[in-house]
Amino acid sequence: MRKYLILPLALIAFGSTAAPLGLPEVPIPADNPQSDAKIALGEKLFTDTRFSATGEVSCSTCHDPKKAFTDSPLQVSEGIEGLTGTRNAPTVLNAAYNRTQFWDGRSPSLEDQARHPFVNPVEMGLRDHQPILDTIAGDDDYRQAFQEVFGKSGDQVSMDEVLRAIAAFERTRIAGDSPFDRFWFGGDESALTEAQKRGFDVFMNQGRCVACHTIEQDHALFTDHKFHNIGVGVNDLGDKVAPLAQAFLKAKAEGIDVDVAVLSDADTSHLGRFAVSDELSDLGGFKTPTLRNVDLTAPTCTTAVSTTCAMWSCTTTTAAPRPRTSRSRPFSAVQCAPSI
Ligand code: HEC
Ligand code: HEC
Repeated sequence: MRKYLILPLALIAFGSTAAPLGLPEVPIPADNPQSDAKIALGEKLFTDTRFSATGEVSCSTCHDPKKAFTDSPLQVSEGIEGLTGTRNAPTVLNAAYNRTQFWDGRSPSLEDQARHPFVNPVEMGLRDHQPILDTIAGDDDYRQAFQEVFGKSGDQVSMDEVLRAIAAFERTRIAGDSPFDRFWFGGDESALTEAQKRGFDVFMNQGRCVACHTIEQDHALFTDHKFHNIGVGVNDLGDKVAPLAQAFLKAKAEGIDVDVAVLSDADTSHLGRFAVSDELSDLGGFKTPTLRNVDLTAPTCTTAVSTTCAMWSCTTTTAAPRPRTSRSRPFSAVQCAPSI
């Protein structure tokens, strides 16, 4: 069984107009237009380990291009000095389409999201962002690149430009045109096997997977962008939920950093969307993840999924599927239909 794969991704280069089959146009914010130079700069920043407290961790440590931009097969991510968080790294592929970033949606954009890992103690561990700006100011290549892209160099560069460049790079990491897309949107009957078509039928009908892992008329992101409590993690908390939620709200009112709190304490992590919205109805709610890139190892998925679901899921995939944490069990909660 292949563990990591050569990704048959349609990675769209800047300038190409059409998105790959099965995907909509990539939304580009008006205040951060794409350019080749900006994308190249963003990639350099994304892979630069100097922006961590130990000089060993970059964004790509946990979002490794060779692992479809995840840290598979880790159950939870590992940052500086092997410190572990509470969740694993979702793929950056197609994150450009997310309406919110992170499992609990606590960040509104790629630009905002990129600010956090640098200063999270269990990720890149910097005390603040200044060391990043110091490194950039003292590096000839960066001086030249920031001058070219933003008309600023040296001390003039701020995190704003750094985050924009990273986001511009991430917006080029797009994966579509899978066997599923060729079958469903391209009308190629031979793109899926008969077994995969039966799995897809379960996905659409008995399994009702499509209710949350959405397929639209002309594209499929396999997410409704919403937050659902499907029992993963939060069920293990039992009676602890109410006191934990109360303690969390109090700490939040006193100004704790939510990003640090949810990634440092497993129980707090399970509060899910509640940690962001303060709404009781959001307790244990997590963002529906895309099912694209879940696994390309068809027909042998490496997860405890019923064969039917696996057979279908594998047709959309490029990376090993992992639930959000070692305690995650989406399939016991979701109940895949038996093989047909
Ligand atoms: C130590 C591992 C680690 C590092 C380093 C890291 N990330 Fe992540 N990343 C994660 C984890 C874990 C999550 C999910 C956290 C959560 O949901 O609370 C995540 C989430 C994300 C998401 C949201 C994806 C989604 O579907 O919601 C994006 C985008 C992202 N990271 C980009 C970056 C960028 C850019 C950097 C560098 C500035 C970076 N990451 C550094 C582990 C890491
Ligand atoms: C009520 C909405 C909903 C339905 C219905 C649903 N899912 Fe999900 N799914 C989710 C959410 C939310 C998660 C994330 C759970 C978590 O980590 O807490 C998830 C996680 C997953 C994952 C893990 C992906 C990853 O990257 O970690 C897979 C695979 C999956 N679902 C497949 C399915 C299949 C197959 C079905 C139908 C049998 C299905 N889902 C039905 C909402 C749903």
